Amino acid sequence: MKQLIAANWKMNGHPDWASKVRQLAKLVPAPSAEILICPPHLILDTLSAAADETSIAIGAQDCSEFSAGAHTGESDAALLAEIGASYVILGHSERRAAGETDARVKAKAGRAIEQGLRPIICVGESLAQREAGSAVSVVGAQLQASLPDGGEFDIAYEPIWAIGTGKTATVTDIAEMHTAIRDMVGETPRILYGGSVKPANAQEILGIMNVGGALVGGASLEMESFATIVQAAH
Ligand code: G3P
Repeated sequence: MKQLIAANWKMNGHPDWASKVRQLAKLVPAPSAEILICPPHLILDTLSAAADETSIAIGAQDCSEFSAGAHTGESDAALLAEIGASYVILGHSERRAAGETDARVKAKAGRAIEQGLRPIICVGESLAQREAGSAVSVVGAQLQASLPDGGEFDIAYEPIWAIGTGKTATVTDIAEMHTAIRDMVGETPRILYGGSVKPANAQEILGIMNVGGALVGGASLEMESFATIVQAAH
């Protein structure tokens, strides 16, 4: 399977940013990796229209575990798919920090798959957990409790201490964790790395065994940088 290079724009974006999609399509007309942009839900349909007839996929940053009804402020997976999403990021550490539980991530993943979205399930340890030597067991427990029972999905390993900090995990840390995750989940899911991925380190990170792509925050907001990361993939 191709590597997946995914942009998590978080709460950044504007309908005008459709131009970024067109710019990216020009910068990497024939990518060897799969490209995904996950914008704020409010501009998902605008971006999806801009990505039409390009090889760029559009995804959501979360979805509800419920189908419809009294869930103020939530986003329905079926509607996200309807307006152009094909992926959904679930269990990002910024949402887990705001109270998202493993059980809820699992329920959301089930609902997303049912509606034709491919979830990217995020896991990762804090600095304190890494320093205590429990990184692999923390991630293992998250995986066990948050992965869906069936269907196709990807995993993103994002050590919390490497997100938006400029600190990247070492090649050894990434290789060890991705191998541990591979042993737990089997051959199928891609295992993306996320946490301060940028043009300068992309090639090295994407060359590590069991790294199936990257989930990129800050460096995905500027298309020249993001295109360089895409070009480093295989
Ligand atoms: O989901 C991607 C993210 O959390 C990593 O952010 O800014 O460190 O690339 P950043």
